[in-house]
Amino acid sequence: MIVLTEIKDVREHLRAERFAAAKEGRELQIGFVPTMGYLHEGHASLLRSARMDNDLVVLSIFVNPIQFGPNEDFDRYPRDSDKDMALAKREGVDIVFLPSVDEMYPQPTKTRILVSELTDHLCGATRPGHFDGVTTVVGKLLHIVAPHRAYFGQKDAQQVAVVTQMVIDLNMDVEIVPCPIVREEDGLALSSRNVYLTPEERQAALVLSRSLRQAEQMAREREGATVAHILQELVRTIESEPAASLDYAEIRSFPSLASLPGSMRAKEAEGKLLIAIAVKFGTTRLIDNVILTMEGEK
Ligand code: PAF
Repeated sequence: MIVLTEIKDVREHLRAERFAAAKEGRELQIGFVPTMGYLHEGHASLLRSARMDNDLVVLSIFVNPIQFGPNEDFDRYPRDSDKDMALAKREGVDIVFLPSVDEMYPQPTKTRILVSELTDHLCGATRPGHFDGVTTVVGKLLHIVAPHRAYFGQKDAQQVAVVTQMVIDLNMDVEIVPCPIVREEDGLALSSRNVYLTPEERQAALVLSRSLRQAEQMAREREGATVAHILQELVRTIESEPAASLDYAEIRSFPSLASLPGSMRAKEAEGKLLIAIAVKFGTTRLIDNVILTMEGEK
């Protein structure tokens, strides 16, 4: 595994690897996993998928300042380079790209990639500008690495939808591969931000997966359950946890993120339904979701 901090070195190294493969008559398949570090088993599962599908795996670790709002946790975002390197090595990463902020943004960036509509609601509503920062940095990273496939966790379902739309709209030659949410045994979705939780908040945060499980069961099994009815129950369960402060709970179609009429029976929905929540526990904001494939029963 090699660790590179400069864009030109990543490009040069990948050019040499592609050239060597081409000389043997094959096209080098490159898998890319962009992260902000503080890696956990969720990231490990992305790396494993990338390892299985590709000849060479590139991992980037970069806490991207432009996707954090002024009152968000950029400065205190957890960082642990040694632990990250050990996990990357264990998962068979070939190249770790570890740029500094100056390397990625040598001057204040005047160019942004903005995906409209999909970024107006859910996390986009409470974190204005967040997705512009995400698409801008992901766009830059995809230009630098030029992978065949890039892997993203479904926990950030809106991010998956937004990045996929960007790739389609800008004709980027990369496949966006969404990977399932990885959970602790008790149901808590893995997140680098879980480290902020006190033991009491950690316990309270189980309401996320519990409320989503109930919502999923209602959507699948209760004949007449409407979107409004499921949302009502979802909110009620979250609000029954005193340490939880609800940011949003929404049901939308996925990946269009189009809103659905409250009167629609969940079973009537066709394609994928996203049930997404964002909840604060103390100062820590966590998100979670479930994506259901519905049959469009009449
Ligand atoms: O999901 C993340 O960790 C970040 O949003 C990403 C995709 C690495 C961009 O900074």
